[in-house]
Amino acid sequence: MATKAMQPKADEANRELLDGLNEDLRGEFQAVIMYRLYASMVQGPYRQELRTFFANEIPEELMHAQILADKISAMGGTPAAEAAPVRVVPEAKAMLETALQAEIETIERYVRRRSQAEAAGEHGLAAQFDDIISDETNHRDELRQMLARWPY
Ligand SMILES: [Fe+2]
Ligand SMILES: [Fe+2]
Repeated sequence: MATKAMQPKADEANRELLDGLNEDLRGEFQAVIMYRLYASMVQGPYRQELRTFFANEIPEELMHAQILADKISAMGGTPAAEAAPVRVVPEAKAMLETALQAEIETIERYVRRRSQAEAAGEHGLAAQFDDIISDETNHRDELRQMLARWPY
């Protein structure tokens, strides 16, 4: 009887987690598109460096998307097929600020998601979020460092 009473709760936790993982997946697709566009569009004296920085983010964001899509599928869900909207901005500084804001929001989402994964009994996924959170934290810190002494 106890297990029967537990079941709807477990289903609900799983459904909530799946919805959240799809939100995260759309966020990773957004990050891939954002960094690709910024790498191509960035102009000004720091183009070469920023182009390399933006482009180098893409493989990690794609790896995050892979982890999420694999997990969503393994849990019986359907991975999202679209990206969250990308903010296209013309100035190098605005690109860095937009990317920084996106990384900060992403970290907040993953910290929440890690608790949801624990609550749903998905401990392996929760552990994977530690690595992802650490990747996104590095992205955030590098963006902050670049903006800290931005000359104009
Ligand atoms: Fe990511
Ligand atoms: Fe990131």
